[in-house]
Amino acid sequence: MFFQKLKPSRIIKFLKNFHHNDAVCPSTLSGMDYLTDPRLNKGLAFTLEERQILGIHGLQPARVKTQEEQIELCKISLSRYTDSLNKYLYLNNLHERNERNFYRLISENIEQILPIVYTPTIGLVCQKFGLVYRRPKGLFITIHDKGYIYQVLKNWPENDVKLICVTDGERILGLGDLGASGMGIAIGKLSVCTALAGVDPSICLPIALDVGTNNETQLNDPIYVGLREKRISGSLYDEFLDEFMAAVVKKYGQYTLVQFEDFGNKNAFRLLDKYKKKYCTFNDDIQGTGAVVVSGFMTSERVTKKSMKNCNYLFFGAGEASIGIANLTVRALEKQGLNYKEACDKIFLFDIDGLITINRDLDEHKKKFAKNLPKTRNLMELIETIKPDFLIGASTVSGAFTPEILQKLARIHKRPVIFALSNPTHLTECTPEEALKHTNGQALIATGSPFPKFSFNGATFKPSQSNNAYIFPGMALGIIETQLKHIEDDLFLVAAETLSNHVTDEDLQFGSLYPPLTKIKEISLRIATNIMKYSFKKGYSGLYPEPDDKESFIRSKLYDYFYKPSLPSQWSWPQQSGKPKVLL
Ligand code: NAI
Repeated sequence: MFFQKLKPSRIIKFLKNFHHNDAVCPSTLSGMDYLTDPRLNKGLAFTLEERQILGIHGLQPARVKTQEEQIELCKISLSRYTDSLNKYLYLNNLHERNERNFYRLISENIEQILPIVYTPTIGLVCQKFGLVYRRPKGLFITIHDKGYIYQVLKNWPENDVKLICVTDGERILGLGDLGASGMGIAIGKLSVCTALAGVDPSICLPIALDVGTNNETQLNDPIYVGLREKRISGSLYDEFLDEFMAAVVKKYGQYTLVQFEDFGNKNAFRLLDKYKKKYCTFNDDIQGTGAVVVSGFMTSERVTKKSMKNCNYLFFGAGEASIGIANLTVRALEKQGLNYKEACDKIFLFDIDGLITINRDLDEHKKKFAKNLPKTRNLMELIETIKPDFLIGASTVSGAFTPEILQKLARIHKRPVIFALSNPTHLTECTPEEALKHTNGQALIATGSPFPKFSFNGATFKPSQSNNAYIFPGMALGIIETQLKHIEDDLFLVAAETLSNHVTDEDLQFGSLYPPLTKIKEISLRIATNIMKYSFKKGYSGLYPEPDDKESFIRSKLYDYFYKPSLPSQWSWPQQSGKPKVLL
């Protein structure tokens, strides 16, 4: 039999010469590693030759499958689960068994799988994180590690980390303080960066900063995995964060992007202000949301035939999402020719205490939008007064855009534009169907959560989701490949314009302000390329030499989820043995 004829010296020579990929030197690997390491595992796709050389022959049934056949099986397996958390658990298990198939499955089935690995299911995953947690997929750094954060970072098995998603879990989606369970969203976001923008998973690192939680439900939940302590704040928190940022740069360098995720309102703005000129960092809840929604504003101009600079914007909810959108709207309006004050005057904020007016005690981010108007907590009255062209909900108040409000908007404007952004699904300010029904089909609507298509007045309507996943994967890819020391605000406008340019007339006919999710991969590449082009033009980039063909340069860096041979290409069977004999 061939296997017995193979001389041990030949196997050793093969192992010494063989580099499966840059990260793996199989001279330190056993055959079993190829079945248990999710980066090497190909399941039944190992050929007979590979099985024999790697010493795993007999550990698998005879059938050799293609990756395509495996993906079909994954789809069948996934469809057997009806509960979305169980679907997530299946995917989580796949991730831990076979990394390439996990990413290929998401990447080639975006519309079906994105809602499971990202919003809205990821919210539930975070709430039940103790149930979901199996194996390390990121780092937990607790407040007790203060003084030793660099040492904890060194425990992460990869040395070349370029993209970190970090959360302190204080405000997960619209679900509040989930403490260390926020790790779920950091893992989810980075999986999306790989699946939708081709960022190599080996350079991604999800991090949960466990500074405790004030959520009694989590603290009393036997399955909660974080510190059972109250959340710390004040100077101790600030020192911890400062040490974390410095440790990241010391370990991975200045060009590693730290994406802040789901921090509480106050800390999110404070930390962004503090670090944005010092580190390569952005906050997706603020800036990424700004880019995706402003892109929708830009697109709506093509339908309303009204320039953004001539419109009024009313934000219901004045938190991270709304301020991020408002800030980028100001930049977009400035680009259309308004000065800063004129642009701010177009924007009205309304929070839990009503309209943001100059006589209220406000933090810096809201002051510039404060209006010299009477105080009001009546949204309907305010709509009557300011006649907003755009009504943006980011309040987590379910059903806040009542039939009366929608009807009122339709009386004021021929094509009112409505963004009901609150997540998860049950918190939306209105559903797309409600928006159309109560405005006689006049409204242009986008939501934060996905909604199924439906028929309205005999036409098919495809609700568009203002999903941050249109922006952050491409931004992340562009930033890390361009090597930016810090991230200027204008780059988010570049991303917003790029996304808007991908909306076709056909999309608009179906009532969508965004392209289909299936186009995200193409859009991510285009955003990354435009980020690089713009950064070189502005002198932001640290990359040298400047690539002539930036798109090809970025393409060459993309993660490839297709299986590779597990044996070196120069490998050939020993002359004397001819073709391998099937042992079975
Ligand atoms: P946040 O907690 O920072 O802000 C919430 C805001 O809503 C606060 O200003 C609060 O005063 C206001 N609010 C609460 N109750 C209210 C009431 N009864 N009337 C008026 N205002 C009220 O939250 P953040 O980050 O701004 O997110 C808000 C929602 O937007 C969340 O559900 C989040 O999941 C969603 N979101 C959606 C995105 C998207 O669709 N792309 C992106 C980011 C956030």
